[in-house]
Amino acid sequence: MNLIFLGPPGAGKGTQANLLSETLNIPQISTGDILRNSVRTGTPMGVRAKSYMDSGSLVPDEVVVGIVEERLQGADCSRGFILDGFPRTVAQADALDLMLTRLGKQIEHVLSMTVDDEELLTRIGGRRMCEKCGKGYHTLFDPPKITDHCDQCGSKLYQRDDDKVETMRKRLDEYYQKTAPLIQYYSQKELLRPIPGIGDIKDIQNRIVEVLKGS
Ligand code: AP5
Repeated sequence: MNLIFLGPPGAGKGTQANLLSETLNIPQISTGDILRNSVRTGTPMGVRAKSYMDSGSLVPDEVVVGIVEERLQGADCSRGFILDGFPRTVAQADALDLMLTRLGKQIEHVLSMTVDDEELLTRIGGRRMCEKCGKGYHTLFDPPKITDHCDQCGSKLYQRDDDKVETMRKRLDEYYQKTAPLIQYYSQKELLRPIPGIGDIKDIQNRIVEVLKGS
């Protein structure tokens, strides 16, 4: 199954994509995670992406399109994949269409997560990540068993640089200006599956599984 998770920052795309990746045993491809990893390791791509990410702007289309094109050719994508955070502009969606045609694949569902701005800001403000394995937590809604330490590997948790309030508002503006038009784009292609993103993480996971089963 080839899927896209669409939604504003903090909507729960990464959380749900990760759970679904385990359920379906197909890879989660997060452009945000790939870019953060490049920034951390100081690759030329990471150096280029850092200033955009720190300011809450989108990284140029050609950078992320190149990342996804290379990643989709991985052997682990042969049974399917979950795109998390890509595409984020109409130009990226058009580029994805072309690359999938070349690869003889197509998207089956676009899971569009909807959450109001107030809740998004609360979620982003409390988000914490494991510095080693990358697992995500929330200080209120999904806390680790031991404060500031990962349940999976015991490493320390940190707050993402772009999760500060000022940067968060810029990320939301970018979403409404550049990414939200994709709702109509995929609706016209009859691929859009709206998923109300408020509620318990497990309940939302069940909602997604039901939508995929019913399709
Ligand atoms: P990226 O890493 O993709 O960030 P984002 O889209 O802003 O999304 P987030 O990771 O903030 O949120 P999410 O929806 O995954 O929510 P999560 O599950 O973590 O991108 C970062 C940057 O990289 C961009 O700003 C841009 O610069 C660049 N970039 C990436 N892709 C790009 C592209 N394609 N083009 C150009 N630039 C690109 O959940 C958030 C928190 O809420 C967590 O703490 C979680 O535990 C909690 N939570 C989740 N679900 C629930 C729930 N149901 N109830 C309560 N809490 C919940």
